[in-house]
Amino acid sequence: MTDRRDFVKASLVASALSGLAGTAKAASPVKPVVVSTWDFGVAANQAAWSVIQGGGHALDAVEAGARVPEADMKNHSVGRAGYPDRDGHVSLDACIMDEQWRCGGVAALEHIAHPISVARRVLEKTPHVLLVGDGALQFAIEQGFPKEELLTPESEAAWREWLKVQNYQPVANSEMSTYGHVPNSKMPGDEHNHDTLGILALDGQGRLSGACTTSGMAWKLRGRVGDSPIIGAGLYVDGEIGAATSTGVGEEVIRNAGSFLVVELMRQGRSPQKACEEAVMRIVRRRPEAAKTLQVGFLALNTKGQVGAFAIQKGFVYAQRDAKATDTVVPAKSFFA
Ligand code: GLY
Repeated sequence: MTDRRDFVKASLVASALSGLAGTAKAASPVKPVVVSTWDFGVAANQAAWSVIQGGGHALDAVEAGARVPEADMKNHSVGRAGYPDRDGHVSLDACIMDEQWRCGGVAALEHIAHPISVARRVLEKTPHVLLVGDGALQFAIEQGFPKEELLTPESEAAWREWLKVQNYQPVANSEMSTYGHVPNSKMPGDEHNHDTLGILALDGQGRLSGACTTSGMAWKLRGRVGDSPIIGAGLYVDGEIGAATSTGVGEEVIRNAGSFLVVELMRQGRSPQKACEEAVMRIVRRRPEAAKTLQVGFLALNTKGQVGAFAIQKGFVYAQRDAKATDTVVPAKSFFA
């Protein structure tokens, strides 16, 4: 009799629990999604999507994604083939963040081809958030990253060409992004210079993460650091709200703590699209003259998997990968049409 009573009780508990599990599943289905800045984000998304499809964490996905343009020898604004500073040094910036506020970054890192993975080690192996310059290089070497010469013959040739004119002056390019290179210019750096890779992912368990990686402004002053390695500027993730990343002139993004601002605007109830628009408009309102000639774009993803993007100038595109959209490149709306 006791056995039967126990059995009935256990069955009732099991049935209640399975009902609860069913309800929770039905109430919050997670639709994974990966978005990345620019059309070269398509290849980054493919790598990230493989991780997510395998049940992996969004943090692993965005790191895998960011490593793709970092290794691309045709990409002169991210990773190992990035154009150098005005003195011929290739220096890279990157950061990474997950849904639990765990984050790491490296800035002005030389001789290491995958700054995003060094940023990940800063997150995992140190009590710090940001390592810079020689200290970042020392840490990377201690962690086993190979020290390499990153200045490729192609980058060196472009740099030597630039040295003939040395026009260190960002000028807007409404077609191609970045620091605004002059449309139809023959100057090296004015083509294929698609700026930062920012990648955001929501995985099958609803976990958000982001990564951001760049070689920064071509021909920059030695030691110059943009928004990309700075948590809150080039990237921000709040696991309860959403994530944002930026591309374009890093100085303008740092001024308004751009990615943090986008996430905070989402927290206040705006959609990712409206949040990106408001963050861009702050730059346009506060710096109307500068805004005429420079490019900044924001890309955002919330916990529901909704995506938004907006830029000052036309020409900004992002890549999206989810269960429906395969390798989709989407033109972002912009303030200047
Ligand atoms: N957004 C990249 C940089 O300004 O360095």
